[in-house]
Amino acid sequence: MKAKTAKNSPYAVEVEAGKTYQWCSCGLSKNQPFCDDSHQVTECEPLDYMATENKKVFFCGCKQTHQSPLCDGTHSKL
Ligand code: FES
Repeated sequence: MKAKTAKNSPYAVEVEAGKTYQWCSCGLSKNQPFCDDSHQVTECEPLDYMATENKKVFFCGCKQTHQSPLCDGTHSKL
């Protein structure tokens, strides 16, 4: 199954150094942009993102990025 677009733009999140975030790659999670185990009906797996510093990052919402889990601008071409 192809990943479903959750939102046609990224999710801005303030991440904390040392914390790991599980990015939803299937697009089905109700807790975007993070995994809520909805992928279990798909072949997708969540992707871990380990924050190395406190900063704002943009997690991909369209699920078509080529730089998972972060937005690479692909959403603007969909
Ligand atoms: S939201 Fe997916 S590439 Fe930007």
